[in-house]
This record gives sequence, structure tokens and C-alpha cells, in this order.
Amino acid sequence: MEKIKADLKKDSLDYESSGDADSKKISVEAFFAASIIFVTGATGFLGKALVEKLLRSCSKISTIYILIRSKKKLSLDERFKSLLNNSVFDRIRQECPEVLSKIVPMMGDISQPNLGLSDHDRLLLIQNVNIVFHSAATVRFEEPLKVAITLNTRGTQRIVELCSEMMNLVSFVHVSTAYSNADLKEIGEIIYDTKITPEIAMDMADNLDDELLNSLEAKLRGDHPNTYTLTKGLAEMLIFKKKLGFPVAIVRPSIIGAACQEPFPGWIDNTTGITGVMLESSCGRVRSSLVDNKCIIDMIPVDYAVDTVICAAWRTLIQPYNSIQVYNYVSGALNPLTWKQLGDLINKYFIIYPSKYAVWYPGISFTKNVYLHKLYVVLFHLFPAYVVDLILIYEGNKPMMVNLAKKVNRVAESARVFCTNEWQFSCNNVQYLIELLKTASDKDNFHLDVREIEWDNYIQKYILGMRQYLLKDTPETLPKARNQIRKFYWIQKSIQFIIILILWLLIY
Ligand SMILES: NC(=O)c1ccc[n+]([C@@H]2O[C@H](COP(=O)([O-])OP(=O)(O)OC[C@H]3O[C@@H](n4cnc5c(N)ncnc54)[C@H](OP(=O)(O)O)[C@@H]3O)[C@@H](O)[C@H]2O)c1
Repeated sequence: MEKIKADLKKDSLDYESSGDADSKKISVEAFFAASIIFVTGATGFLGKALVEKLLRSCSKISTIYILIRSKKKLSLDERFKSLLNNSVFDRIRQECPEVLSKIVPMMGDISQPNLGLSDHDRLLLIQNVNIVFHSAATVRFEEPLKVAITLNTRGTQRIVELCSEMMNLVSFVHVSTAYSNADLKEIGEIIYDTKITPEIAMDMADNLDDELLNSLEAKLRGDHPNTYTLTKGLAEMLIFKKKLGFPVAIVRPSIIGAACQEPFPGWIDNTTGITGVMLESSCGRVRSSLVDNKCIIDMIPVDYAVDTVICAAWRTLIQPYNSIQVYNYVSGALNPLTWKQLGDLINKYFIIYPSKYAVWYPGISFTKNVYLHKLYVVLFHLFPAYVVDLILIYEGNKPMMVNLAKKVNRVAESARVFCTNEWQFSCNNVQYLIELLKTASDKDNFHLDVREIEWDNYIQKYILGMRQYLLKDTPETLPKARNQIRKFYWIQKSIQFIIILILWLLIY
């Protein structure tokens, strides 16, 4: 890696003077060979897929240090063990289990001073790390402002400070979001000025009490839809303002969904956002969502996002040393999928691959009519939830369906802005990266070009993946689940018939 670092400085100068980027035909694997990597957010959805792909495709990596915080009273060892047992590593366990020993967990927390690292671990990172992937963040849209600033902005500042001290760093990749500038409508691959500075925002989060900060939230957010997009935008500005002595890539994926192909088609590990809504509607618990059918849903499979993050690090090899390269990693600009198309596809595959957990005939309708949606919520989300909870209480069990229905509605409400609006993204840097990858000998191991995605096929895998990885529904349950939803179908039709009959009798 030392050699790569030395070459990098030289190459960057060459690049600046000649612009001859394509002359560097180092494969992605060669770039990562012998490197020592530090990953934050490795226990998250994107992070674990990133670590898996790095280990599988760049098997000459020396070590991957991952930052893990203590959570739910679990020790570092317990959290690490549970990460290694995750289905994401099933393929590695079969193909090359020995590479798993390259992952080294480190106790730390981005919300703590010095990232909560021990002096020993911090020094180890400073002296050895070559490449940093910063993916840790809170992705909750409705996160209180203080928490969002502390994790997404202050946390990034702490990572950047650590990077600045690193003696052998050649590449820093910051995982941002396509919506870090959601207050704009047209978004280029540049860093935009923020209405307040990251320093002021962090000072306010440190010094104001929750109540006062929350009362200022609307003003501070401006046209940002939530604290998530605001604080991710502030993190980008913070990186921009800091004079860094190493190349930086900021990758901005849009909504990340199940894997298209790797490590397994349909692999998915999170239930937030659109996946949560799809999961609930596959079980018949959510039947309506406030969506503008004509708008584009900008979705990216997690394996494509991971490959882009990896290749963005690789590209820093030819990047001017102090530069920041921004990648808007979106699908809408090159291979658009509308909400209407998505709705049709998920309804199609919910019926073909139903879950044994379905409590009603699966399916969801997208509408932008707020009143119709509210009526659906009361009739089809809340009313059945109250009925089930009453039955649960009668049977001596704990009621839970109303809380679940309210939670899903809250999540859907917080995501509404992304379902009823569209943004125009430019993605020239991503297209350049796609072209550049064609010069690498291991280009076939990495998939960046969203034009390759066939949405029908992808959504089929997504629904099957949700069934397998989230609901833990085995393929053997399919015939029984199909019978069950057939019954629900006829019950639903009978109820509709009775309602129409009653209305008809009332009218005449
Ligand atoms: N998911 C998407 O649709 C999407 C789209 C665009 C961009 N992104 C970006 O992608 C990145 C990863 O998102 P994700 O979907 O993988 O989210 P995720 O599943 O919620 O993972 C978040 C990760 O951050 C870690 N983390 C949170 N707070 C931490 C703290 N105080 N100290 C240390 N680690 C902490 C979490 O650790 P624990 O396991 O301890 O909670 C987890 O590993 C984020 O930067 C996000 O902004 C995501």
C-alpha cells in the first residue's frame, strides 16, 4: 500500500497535468491489495454488504477494521458474532470462509468524543489505515435535530479529524444521500452551500436544550423536508470546508433497495422506508400509500450502491490529491421507474409469492388524494388493527396491531415528500466512473450501470428476498400461502358485494 500511496501522489500530479485518466489501468482488486481499511456503519444495511463485497472481490485486502458501538447491552464480541452470522456472509462462508478473519471489530461510537475509541485503537488506525469508508449515520427521517446533528454532522467531523491524522491514508469515501440537497430541485455533482454553517449547527446542538432546538427546527431546516437530509447536507459542507490532505469521494445514492445479484438476488436486511411499506402491504396490513403515481421512484439496488462506493475509492487513484469527487448515484436519470410501474409490479408479485404471514389479501394502492388515502387508512389500516387487538386482549395477549399500524403510517408520512416529488440529478461523474471501470481487468466483478437493471425482474427478486430474508418464509410455505390468500380474495370480494348490495338497497 505504501507503494500505491507513493504512486498515487505521482499519478495525481500526472493526472492534473495530462488529464490522461485512462492510462491507469490498475484493477480494483490491485488497488485494494494489501490495504488496511476502516469502515463505519458496517453493522448497517449498506455497510455489511460493503464489507462482504470487499472481502469477496478484493481478497488480497489485509485487514478491515470496523467500528461497532455498544447497543442493547450487547458486548463488542456479541455484536460482532451476530454480524458474522448474518446471511450476507453466507456466500463467503461457502466460498472462502478464511477471509472473514480479516475483519477486526473496534469498540467506538461516532457520537462520542474521539469516536469513543481507546487510545490504542485510535493510534492503530492513525498509523495503519489506507482507505476509509464512512457509512455510519442515522437514517431516520424524523430523528430529533440534536441526535441527527450529533450523528450525521458531528460524527462525520470526528471521522474527518481522524482521517486527517492518518499517516497512510490514500482514499476517504463518505456515503451521503442523493437527498442531501433536497431543498433544491436540480442537483449537480457539486457541494452546495448550506443555509447555516455546520459549525453553527453543531454549536447549537451542543449548547441548546432539546426543547429550544426543536422549536428552531423548522427555521433551520428551511426547505429541507427533514432533519436527515439537512444534517447529511451539513456533513458534506463540513468535508468541503476542511482542507484535507487526501482524495475524497462523496457517493450519494438515492433510495437503497434489495440486492439485484450480490451476495444473493433479493438479499435485504432492513425494514425502513419503502421496504417497510412493501413488507407490510405484502402481508395485507398496509393497503394505501400517499404517492404521486407519475413521479419517479429513484431506487438503487444495494449491490450496485456498494460497487459504486468501492469504485469511487478506486478512482481516487487518479484523482487530484486534495480534490473531492461527488457521485449522484441515482437511477431516475438513466433508467426511470415510476411509482405506478412499481405499484403494478409489487401487486403482481405479492400474489405470485405471497407470505404465510399474510393477514389479508395483499396489495397496495397508490394515490395522491389525501382524503381518499385517509379514508383507506381508517378503513383498512386502523379499523382491522383495532379488531385484531380486541381479539388479542380477549385471548389474554398483548395488543400490538394498532401501534404497528400507527408506526407504519408515521413512517409513510415522513417519507411522503419522496413519494410525491421528483428531483433532477446530473450524474456525469458516475457515467465517467462507469467508463473508467471498463479499463479495469476485473470490470466484470463490479456493476455500476443502472441501465442494466430490468425493473420487472428486479422487483420479483426484491419480493422473494423480502420473503426469505426479512419474513424468513421458506419456499415450502408457498402453496399454503397461495391457498390462504385465495380465501382472503373471496372473502374480500364477498364483503365488497355485500357493501354494494346494502348501498343499492338503501338507494332504491
Ligand atoms: N438506506 C438507504 O436507502 C440510503 C440511501 C442513501 C444513502 N444512505 C446512506 O448510507 C449509509 C448507510 O445507511 P444504511 O441504510 O446502511 O443505514 P443503517 O442500516 O441504519 O446503518 C447505519 C449504520 O450506522 C451505524 N451507526 C449509527 N449510529 C452510530 C454511532 N453513534 N456510532 C457508530 N455507528 C453508528 C449503525 O450501527 P448500529 O448497528 O450500532 O446501529 C449502522 O451500522 C448512511 O450514511 C445513509 O445516509 C442510505
